[in-house]
Amino acid sequence: MNYPTPHIQATPADFGQTVLMPGDPLRARYIAEHFLQDPVLVNNVRGVQGYTGLYQDVRVSVMASGMGMPSMGIYSRELYEAFGVRNILRIGSAGAIQPHINLKEIVMAMGASMDSNYQTQYHLMGTFAPICSFEMLQAATRSAEELGVAYHVGNILSSDFFYDDDAGVPEALDPKKNWQKMGVMAIEMESAALYLNAARCGKNALCICSVSDQLVWHEYLSAEERQTGFGQMMQVALETAVKLEK
Ligand code: HPA
Repeated sequence: MNYPTPHIQATPADFGQTVLMPGDPLRARYIAEHFLQDPVLVNNVRGVQGYTGLYQDVRVSVMASGMGMPSMGIYSRELYEAFGVRNILRIGSAGAIQPHINLKEIVMAMGASMDSNYQTQYHLMGTFAPICSFEMLQAATRSAEELGVAYHVGNILSSDFFYDDDAGVPEALDPKKNWQKMGVMAIEMESAALYLNAARCGKNALCICSVSDQLVWHEYLSAEERQTGFGQMMQVALETAVKLEK
């Protein structure tokens, strides 16, 4: 794949080895302005701002994925294939579906289950199990421990549906309940596509999410509270990026 791509007007030299990917372009800009030293804007196609700056003398990039697997699929594929990016660390939010996982806690997705057809493109005679990079997971758990941040590691669900048509569905057929029975920690909408692209491109990926919604207890963070959980996750993500460089 050649650069520039339809969605990223930049060169490989514009990106660090590790790209942090929130879903939201405004959050990418906020991270660049508040956490990185000397951030430089490297992409602005469709307002998907990408920045590269320094954190503890390491070049780190941050660019939004947009929402959902098609959008994550586009940006991660282009970053890996056209821009030579080695590690993508998604930093998102998720809705917990286990009763013991609390608001503001961090979930690290060792695996990403899905209700999407994204992997049909690979023509596998079976289903692939999308998993994170062990190296990245190890760096992230070590960073969380050093920072004293609580985290959970396990499976998450990457869903195509934020609003599902579940009115009147009998409990035995309720997908949330059934994913919960399988031990899945939380629902978000991007990681499986990221992990599949990483596998196909021979690269590394990890998703860490801060819990913004507790879907068992119907608790939801206010906009202000989301920032607190987000700040801790950012610290973990940046320390992880530094560890990956060593
Ligand atoms: N569903 C899907 N994605 C999410 C949610 C949710 O409840 N909360 C945060 N991201």
